[in-house]
Amino acid sequence: MAEPGPVLVEFDRVGMRFGPQAILCEVSFRLERGKTLAVIGESGCGKTVTLKLIVGLLKPTDGRVLFDGNALSDLGERELAKERLRVGFLFQGAALFDSLNVFDNIAFGMRAIGVAEKEIVDRVRRHLQEVGLPANVETKMPAELSGGMRKRVGLARALALNPELMIYDEPTTGLDPVMSDVINQLIIRARSQAPRTSVVVTHDMNTVRRVADRVVMLFPLARLPAGERQLIFDGTPEELDRCQDPRVRAFVEGDSSERIEQIEDESAPPAPPPEGDTRDLSTFRARPDGTPG
Ligand SMILES: Nc1ncnc2c1ncn2[C@@H]1O[C@H](COP(=O)(O)OP(=O)(O)OP(=O)(O)O)[C@@H](O)[C@H]1O
Ligand SMILES: [Mg+2]
Repeated sequence: MAEPGPVLVEFDRVGMRFGPQAILCEVSFRLERGKTLAVIGESGCGKTVTLKLIVGLLKPTDGRVLFDGNALSDLGERELAKERLRVGFLFQGAALFDSLNVFDNIAFGMRAIGVAEKEIVDRVRRHLQEVGLPANVETKMPAELSGGMRKRVGLARALALNPELMIYDEPTTGLDPVMSDVINQLIIRARSQAPRTSVVVTHDMNTVRRVADRVVMLFPLARLPAGERQLIFDGTPEELDRCQDPRVRAFVEGDSSERIEQIEDESAPPAPPPEGDTRDLSTFRARPDGTPG
């Protein structure tokens, strides 16, 4: 067999549109085996879409997504399902099965691939311990767990299949700073065991600094000036801290002032005609206080 190449995931000029709405355009990057990539960018810029493209849950409308050298869109459903077993996915919000208890949630994927029940019991225990949950949570239903516990059960479920690639969609969103740090440490631990390649979508700069070898930042296509690259940053966390692009700085420093101005501009009614213009003014939106907008 040929030696595996150093690149596990490659986006080659990937474009993605849903009907008339283009989300990604000409996005290219490579992720090497054993490395952790953070994908950042504001809400709606296409981060979750990017993750779904990596696992073949979505097919690109342009360009190619390569996983271990294979273009996913060339694979049939069976081959794709096989490749997907190499990937663990911690979904945004954990996405546990509400009707299954913790044990059955973690066991679900292992049962699907025919792991023996005794081995399943061992692995459930081991991975619950790995994510720092006591064995007595096994019989609890997801609704009885806190957000941080749900994320940890989701992580145990993904790790139980021993994936080569772990994908995390906003693993710390909605958690307090201490629990966020616990999750960051679990990501680092999970990756040191294999060694494992990881992709982490996050808004959390602590997560970026703690876990990432490499960072890419996507900019929403709708606001990207024509001819500019949508990947506005691709480098190390240290380079991110030094990057002078104001869009990158605003994200890194959590400064929303420029974005608020843009949102106001986008939602502002058209300017009224200059004084002396005799056209009908009734089409201009009124402000809530009744004055013309
Ligand atoms: N299956 C789909 N059909 C149509 N539009 C979609 C679909 N999936 C995503 N979109 C659109 O693609 C855009 C990007 O969505 P995505 O979920 O990737 O954003 P995101 O960067 O993950 O945002 P957030 O940080 O809020 O999770 C959004 O405008 C969304 O409405
Ligand atoms: Mg998302």
